[in-house]
Amino acid sequence: IPVDDFDLVIFGGTGDLARRKILPGLYRRFCAGQMPPTARIIGAARSEHDTEEFRRIVRAAILEFSSKHSCDEALIGDFLKRLDYVQVDARGEDGWDALKGMMRDDVIKAYYFSVAPSLFGDIAERLMSHGIADDKARIVVEKPFGRDLKTAKALNRDLAKHFDETQIYRIDHYLGKETVQNLMAVRFGNILFEPLWNSQYVDHIQITVAETVGVGGRGEYYDRSGAMRDMVQNHLMQLLCLIAMEPPSRFEPDSVRDEKLKVIRALEPIDHHHIVRGQYDATDDEPSYREDAGDPRSRTESFIALRCMISNWRWAGTPFFLRTGKKLKARNSEIAVVFKDAPHSIFGEEAGRHANLLSIRLQPNEGMTLKVTIKEPGPGGMRLIDVPLDMSFAEALGEDAEEITDAYERLIMDVIRGNQTLFMRGDEVEAAWAWTDPLIESWEARGDVPKPYEAYSSGPEEAAIMLHREGRRWREIK
Ligand code: BG6
Repeated sequence: IPVDDFDLVIFGGTGDLARRKILPGLYRRFCAGQMPPTARIIGAARSEHDTEEFRRIVRAAILEFSSKHSCDEALIGDFLKRLDYVQVDARGEDGWDALKGMMRDDVIKAYYFSVAPSLFGDIAERLMSHGIADDKARIVVEKPFGRDLKTAKALNRDLAKHFDETQIYRIDHYLGKETVQNLMAVRFGNILFEPLWNSQYVDHIQITVAETVGVGGRGEYYDRSGAMRDMVQNHLMQLLCLIAMEPPSRFEPDSVRDEKLKVIRALEPIDHHHIVRGQYDATDDEPSYREDAGDPRSRTESFIALRCMISNWRWAGTPFFLRTGKKLKARNSEIAVVFKDAPHSIFGEEAGRHANLLSIRLQPNEGMTLKVTIKEPGPGGMRLIDVPLDMSFAEALGEDAEEITDAYERLIMDVIRGNQTLFMRGDEVEAAWAWTDPLIESWEARGDVPKPYEAYSSGPEEAAIMLHREGRRWREIK
């Protein structure tokens, strides 16, 4: 369904995120016929380009970052005609009146802040003082949204001086992933799962976001952040919220976000025995984390595993194990709901026991698997085995599967539609930091040194031990 006509300004329009994700994503929406033919995209940045140069940069970005089969020269040409460029000084007054002159009346106006958070306040202020944005305009901001509660509050305050919360779209691109939304469809569109979705039937839940990439190339940024700030405070906590929240009354922004917020606020503080941090070692031909970070004594974690507890009626007593890291064995992101054993085995212990498990795969090979117990086929008597009921979205959706791959394009279209359901509200972000801050402060105060782990392994041994201590084990990263 096409969205209404719009002018979208991308601050940082020639930057890395714009070239990799935002512009190729918009191009794909253009090809899909979702972007109206009159819609316009205006790149705004400090560099001295003209529109022709900007179009050349975007063309190269589409060829590099859009999948091959969607690169059609004629379509690219049509798309590029929708693009303009303006040079603006975020901290000065240059360029803003020119930008104002480019904006049309009577279309949706959206401003994407694909720049460092330190510029959010300056840009927001100039959009207002130059009369460029009105009270219907939308602004889109990216993570990192602060590095602790204090800085996140300051950013929220800076934006709130000029824009209402209903105009602010804080992106967490994990919320745009197809499977993540499917999680809500599975939970709230079926009657099968929800009655079992609580501590009476669920033994524990594992959320793994494993990456094979290291931090080389962005070591300096990453070293100031670490896995907790870079991944857990945002992406993993969003996944945790969606898996643990109560059913919202409607699939509408505030109903969903109210429920997510309650989960974050119910998270218990974590004792340091339930946190394992790690750093990858060097291989024969690749540097160690510390070398990538450019600091031989760095104490920043490239891996973290945590045992979280949610203090509420539904989840009291059910641990949620979160784990994420760089240079792990495989790129593999999964949420696994591990159910309890059946209360009594009528077949006797020798038949074997297998707990049910629901695995929701985010990437790669997005899909779901439900493990169920059946009788081992054959004449060997009643022996139990588990078999997977498997659903791969790519197979189920066939040719359309490629359409579902990118989170950014979906989220940008939601901005134009004015739908904030998949965006984080200011109080959510603050609550997430309020839970994260004391954990970071505590390991810093203790002088905790991350455990080394072999590159391309499953992470430090201590993470496995954390689960073994209580008779559980991580799902294999493969
Ligand atoms: C980003 C993090 O937010 O998410 C990166 O800053 C990480 O460190 C990336 O690699 C992972 O995103 P995806 O979509 O590739 O899982």
